[in-house]
Amino acid sequence: MANSTKKFFTDPQRVTSAIKTKIVVEYFKSWASILWGVVKSNNRPHLRYVDLFAGTGKIDGVKSTPLLIMEHVISKPELAESVGALLNDLNSDHIKQLEENLKALPGYETLKRPPRTRTGPVDEKLVDIFTKSNNVPSFSFIDPFGYKGLTLPLVKALVSGFGSDLVLFFSFDSINRAVSNKLVKEHMNALFGQKRAERLHAVAKGMRPDEREELLIEAFIEAVTEDLGYEYVIPYVFEKEDKDRTSHYLIFISKHSRGFNIMKDIMYKESQDKTQGIAKFGYVRQVNAEKTPLLHLMNTPLSDFGRQLCADYAGRSLSRKALRDDFDKHYPRNRFVNKNWRDVLSELEQEGKITCKPPRLERKVQKGEVTFGENTVVTFPAEEKK
Ligand SMILES: C[S@@+](CC[C@H](N)C(=O)[O-])C[C@H]1O[C@@H](n2cnc3c(N)ncnc32)[C@H](O)[C@@H]1O
Repeated sequence: MANSTKKFFTDPQRVTSAIKTKIVVEYFKSWASILWGVVKSNNRPHLRYVDLFAGTGKIDGVKSTPLLIMEHVISKPELAESVGALLNDLNSDHIKQLEENLKALPGYETLKRPPRTRTGPVDEKLVDIFTKSNNVPSFSFIDPFGYKGLTLPLVKALVSGFGSDLVLFFSFDSINRAVSNKLVKEHMNALFGQKRAERLHAVAKGMRPDEREELLIEAFIEAVTEDLGYEYVIPYVFEKEDKDRTSHYLIFISKHSRGFNIMKDIMYKESQDKTQGIAKFGYVRQVNAEKTPLLHLMNTPLSDFGRQLCADYAGRSLSRKALRDDFDKHYPRNRFVNKNWRDVLSELEQEGKITCKPPRLERKVQKGEVTFGENTVVTFPAEEKK
């Protein structure tokens, strides 16, 4: 086992790794509860958790993602009955330790579908298996050290079935090095699609590191949304702990707005930088609207958001909820959570740019703030007041 790999599981868990696990486990809990509601009337309700780079289940003795997810499954009788897990790792020692750790979980014997483990690389064979068996709603986690095994066909296969969502670890540092390295071009082709990978190879050379970051993440979002047609993507960025540089992203991918909105709330809570209350999920630098429109869409400040609403909805009246639903339909990848909606509309109301029913003076006050309920009706003037 390479020393760095071994250290990952024996050194104290890094803060970033703990946040990654928290986001994934919290999302799994919501996903499983919603999907259980959908499959419970089936003859044999079945949900699936797929973890292809599962590791040992513990980092420095502390339970990590696969163990925490299975612990949650055990704690809910309906999930213990319906969730099947497929846990894979290249390293047979990791799988052996994982099996032992799983069996030591109190209540393990209540699982109707004990987790299936597999030792092997994440390769085309596995992609084939998932492509053919996408009839069970699945939540998948792809958490490699580098980029080997992370391919668009894999992403496609794991998200293609009904109710299936995915979180993946995008190792920016290693992918950034790899786009310039001809020796690993097959991996980059598999990750970005051949034409896009060739373009990246050609243009990335002379760029500053921050420009390359925007370019690469934008290219991957573009591949997922345009080539695969999976509309709902959220990149959550992790900075290097010691430097002002990005080391990796956690990327959420879904076909549906419901999961997207849940994940936005989870990532919002885990985001430190909330300029004007709007989270830069993790940390995202100022991005360029023309060069990287997909990323830019996720970085609109609150003041721009207010201006955009006044322009887009001039002359219209609708409730806060109807407004958000409509906006989300038109801008499916926006990152605004309910708090942002309450804030931006309150601000516009106080600036006299919109009128509301019931008006401010007639609404409840909570914790010193006037509330902005989802049924409050907002009217935008026909032309934005200057
Ligand atoms: C970052 S760790 C996973 C940590 C785990 N997700 C957690 O939260 O505890 C990456 C794992 O991928 C495994 N791995 C490395 N290359 C692999 C490959 N090609 N196929 C499958 N697993 C691989 C390593 O053995 C390691 O256990």
